[in-house]
Amino acid sequence: MPNPWAVVTGASSGIGAAIANELGRRKWSVVLVGRDEAALAEQARAVAAHSVEALPIAADLASAAGLEILKRRLAQDGLAPEILVNNAGFGLHGPFEKSDGVAAAKMIDLQLKGMVELTRAFLPAMLERKSGRILNVASVYAFSPVQNQAVYAACKAFMLSFSRSLALELYGSGVTVSVLCPGITHTRFRSRAGMQDKPSAFALEASAVAALGVRGLLQGRLLIVPGWGNRLYVASARCLPSGVLGGFTKWFNRRRGIAGHAEGRV
Ligand SMILES: NC(=O)c1ccc[n+]([C@@H]2O[C@H](COP(=O)([O-])OP(=O)(O)OC[C@H]3O[C@@H](n4cnc5c(N)ncnc54)[C@H](OP(=O)(O)O)[C@@H]3O)[C@@H](O)[C@H]2O)c1
Repeated sequence: MPNPWAVVTGASSGIGAAIANELGRRKWSVVLVGRDEAALAEQARAVAAHSVEALPIAADLASAAGLEILKRRLAQDGLAPEILVNNAGFGLHGPFEKSDGVAAAKMIDLQLKGMVELTRAFLPAMLERKSGRILNVASVYAFSPVQNQAVYAACKAFMLSFSRSLALELYGSGVTVSVLCPGITHTRFRSRAGMQDKPSAFALEASAVAALGVRGLLQGRLLIVPGWGNRLYVASARCLPSGVLGGFTKWFNRRRGIAGHAEGRV
């Protein structure tokens, strides 16, 4: 029997690369998607070292053309993924009124339109087979207001809400939906967004986040929050008024040098 296939977006670095590697370790063949061809090829070699197939596909998933490239290539190769991991993303921070509207629109295209469209593309075959698993990578920020990261936090809240609703809709179908909500994770995420990356006692390695994410995905768990600090944050969000949690997040980020220019406003 050939190994079943998983598609992982944003697999050229960070959490996505670690998820691809963890799936390979568990004998899944993996399609790795991102824009950086050299990094994708390197991560594909690491996955293939687990004696599984690894197929790198370069595509900008914030564009309709990029989504089409991925869907067409999988159709051409006759690949119907059993697992879809919507992980590709990037950060933005700073006062909203001074923010780059093009970058904000791209974030929505990548994290929301891309996730919805890929899910829509691969779900029918999963339902037909009565078997499939979808993992959306959101954030603990899905649960709270975040000063200077309004669009990012709202995207993550959308991902959480979409995952919860779809999981309910698909209950009993053989297809499960999971949402992974990491907190601070050691990747290039913050440096790429021009944010300071001070050490934090709560930070996790991408490999640890991926191991917990893949385990939860294969168990069909809806909500996966890696690390006790992140679980405490999510538990607080369930019982504290959002302004209190938002105030704490603002204080915490200011201590980490991520407050930006809009101090004094939550
Ligand atoms: N690191 C954290 O502290 C943290 C915390 C909570 C949630 N998250 C979430 O975790 C996910 C992964 O982030 P990360 O920390 O692993 O960051 P990362 O190391 O910067 O990885 C981001 C990945 O997304 C891909 N990507 C970005 N734009 C893309 C596009 N237009 N089309 C296709 N791929 C694109 C990148 O690939 P290319 O550059 O090759 O395109 C890269 O593989 C994100 O959704 C992020 O919001 C991260």
